[in-house]
Amino acid sequence: MAKDRKTVFFCQNCGYESAKWQGQCPGCREWNTFVEEVVSSAAAKKRATAGFAGPPAAASKLSQIQMRQDSRVKTGYKELDRVLGGGIVKGSLVLVGGDPGIGKSTLLLQVCRNLSAGGRKVLYISGEESLQQIKMRADRIGEFQNDMLLLCETDLDLIRDAIEREKPEAVVIDSIQTVYREEVSSAPGSVSQVREATGAFMQIAKGMGITVFLVGHVTKEGVVAGPRVLEHMVDTVLYFEGDRYASYRILRGVKNRFGSTNEIGVFEMQESGLREVANPSEYMLSGKPEGASGSVVACAMEGTRPILVEVQALVCRTNFGIPRRTAVGTDINRVNLLMAVLEKRLGLSLGDCDAYVNIAGGIRMNEPAMDLAVVLAVLSSKKEFSLGERTVAFGEVGLSGEIRGVSMAKQRVLEAKKLGFTRCILPKVSLDGLSDVTGMKLLGIATVRDLLSLDGNRHAG
Ligand code: TYD
Ligand code: MG
Repeated sequence: MAKDRKTVFFCQNCGYESAKWQGQCPGCREWNTFVEEVVSSAAAKKRATAGFAGPPAAASKLSQIQMRQDSRVKTGYKELDRVLGGGIVKGSLVLVGGDPGIGKSTLLLQVCRNLSAGGRKVLYISGEESLQQIKMRADRIGEFQNDMLLLCETDLDLIRDAIEREKPEAVVIDSIQTVYREEVSSAPGSVSQVREATGAFMQIAKGMGITVFLVGHVTKEGVVAGPRVLEHMVDTVLYFEGDRYASYRILRGVKNRFGSTNEIGVFEMQESGLREVANPSEYMLSGKPEGASGSVVACAMEGTRPILVEVQALVCRTNFGIPRRTAVGTDINRVNLLMAVLEKRLGLSLGDCDAYVNIAGGIRMNEPAMDLAVVLAVLSSKKEFSLGERTVAFGEVGLSGEIRGVSMAKQRVLEAKKLGFTRCILPKVSLDGLSDVTGMKLLGIATVRDLLSLDGNRHAG
């Protein structure tokens, strides 16, 4: 008995494994996160080989490996396909993480609907909701042309049996935290259970050529609950994020063995499920005030995709000794830094001013190319002028007040042009290579001092 039952301590935050209990985790430096879990030696042995299904094969020559042409399956959502790198890959294991209630189950159910409409056999396994609840959700998101299979089960062995029996092309596990294996005696959702289950699904995916989607809940620290161990075991990690109060959702690729990361897909949550937002810039700019001071449109990149967002700033006299600075949707330290640059390089007195900077629409943007728009918004609010309707800005601002070049200037300019903008303020160095852009007034600037001579519409006040 003692021989095949061994206990190990796992950090519940990062999955660090230790033979004895420790107060602080050496992996993630969190305190009091170690929990004792029983691992049978059989399970441990299995884990060591998890992910390598079948007998060991002879090594192959790279040049002799045939590419399969039909390996990508379209999900019916361009936004999702882009994040996946062009569609789902047969036999891949995809983790979809996100806060509870963000729409993971809805998204995957809609994907199941599209796949089954295309004549593919899909199996949706839920450990969180009853068949009736899933049926209700399915009714909300609209008609299912073809039937799909549903199963409410949490026992890993029964799930594996069902998959082997039904042999579907795609399986959704909602969620990985509810799946447990009897032999592993720790609670469902603990590190060893989740790791065990993920290993088993890896074998199912690779061994049977089934695409497996795993839903994973995210803890308040922003990692998929418990385990980063999960992230390295799967092929693709997608995070579904968004403001609870804004209706748009962003699907972000964090890891992808079959495509580029840093791609995003934008969805909007509606009454009848998730809808793709093909043109996020238009969506982000809807409701933008006309001719207001402190409002500047920036062009940021999300992966290979330009997105226009509105940066708002409100600068007003402080009523207390220490000015308040707040940033929503961007980094407060960056805002402080940019305001310091304005004070030092332009002699602008901001020391007695409160400043509030906000990226409208609830989106988060931390790209350095947003700097110029933040600087312009602060300047415009402080000096009470508006930049004019059809102006967009991007560029990085350095500590000496220089405006530095950013990548993919052309894509940004073209996106702005597409949405009807006619003037673009950008780094002077980025002007090379833009000579063939027509219908857009390009204002290349070298330092923040050049901003003072911009012809804005000065307000009376
Ligand atoms: P859900 O997919 O259950 O989230 P998760 O699986 O990530 O926990 O999404 C739940 C939220 O989405 C819930 O607050 C209701 C909302 N919703 C809609 O607004 N419209 C819809 O058609 C559906 C199905 C859900
Ligand atoms: Mg759910």
